[in-house]
Amino acid sequence: MDVLQQIMERAKSNLQRIVLPEGDEPRTLEAANIVLKEKLAKLILIGDPAVINKMAEEKGYTHISEAMIVNPETDPKMPVYANLLYELRKNKGMTQEEAEKMAKNPLYLGCLMIKNGDADGELAGARNTTGNTLRPAFQIIKTKPGVSIVSGALLMFTPAKHLGENGLLVFADCAVNPCPTAPELAQIAVCTAETARTVAGIEPRIAMLSFSTKGSAKHELVDKVAEATRLAKEMAPDLMLDGELQADASLIPSIGESKAPGSKVAGHANVLVFPDLQAGNIGYKLVERFSDAQAIGPILQGIAAPVNDLSRGCCVDDIVKMVAVTANQAIK
Ligand code: ACO
Repeated sequence: MDVLQQIMERAKSNLQRIVLPEGDEPRTLEAANIVLKEKLAKLILIGDPAVINKMAEEKGYTHISEAMIVNPETDPKMPVYANLLYELRKNKGMTQEEAEKMAKNPLYLGCLMIKNGDADGELAGARNTTGNTLRPAFQIIKTKPGVSIVSGALLMFTPAKHLGENGLLVFADCAVNPCPTAPELAQIAVCTAETARTVAGIEPRIAMLSFSTKGSAKHELVDKVAEATRLAKEMAPDLMLDGELQADASLIPSIGESKAPGSKVAGHANVLVFPDLQAGNIGYKLVERFSDAQAIGPILQGIAAPVNDLSRGCCVDDIVKMVAVTANQAIK
């Protein structure tokens, strides 16, 4: 069974409650119908039921009737969610009145439902920017214990079967932190190892990427990656992780052997941790376009409950897959 099939089967085997705050967004609604038909998750759509049901009827999305629809204007639990938001944000200066207004914002409401135990995960972003999708998640759900930053990983299904895990590689951080410090980069590496295990189902071999391999170049940016490598090894001594490594030394056995002799990761990496967001975001998009790779994600990691962000250019199939990924992350 391939990795994507495994993700789908795992989602089906333990149905999670996934909230879709953009319930009346056309691609999201079409994807929701497929998710319910394929029994990949239980769905909560946020929006006006009259609008959602009319759209579903016009398009013949018969499975939408199986979704729970939460209307932020009338839902009887809105005072509970508003109070929860107020309690979480009063120290940041939020008033009760502001909390009541903000809880009606579907992106805040989705996260409040998770925080209140009424949903297991959220997927949004077909209509909203990354910042607007992630901010409520950061403020309400927050990071996992022991983690201070959320980051974003991509599963890269490339046709280069001789690389990574039969062509599959996990890239991070490609979505969130523009300039991670060395301790943050170490956390990103440890969180990406967990994503590789729990979502991709692979045993991670992690390369901490740089333009230098084992001191071949001297620069403060190289020092940052070397320090992050040391810290990540300290945080998770059992991880197969090495750095700093250049991309070719990470992926190609003969180059790995010559540039980093004795490294168990060099030449065999299946997880690439980029030194910053410029490198990570540009890197994944170049691989996607040049090699016709399929990129699944960004998959947010380090967050206390799964929330994932779609690209506004996403297609229906991307949304279906990301619902399944979110459900995989939610399975305890
Ligand atoms: N992890 C956890 N919490 C965070 C993080 C993080 N990485 N970043 C910010 N926060 C928290 C802050 O602590 C703060 O919490 P508080 O209000 O409780 O104090 C809250 O989130 C807001 O923090 P700000 O510093 O005001 O952050 P802002 O909202 O301005 O920005 C954002 C956060 C939008 C995610 C920013 O980091 C960003 O724009 N990143 C780049 C995103 C991007 O454009 N990615 C590329 C596109 S995605 C793609 O191509 C796949």
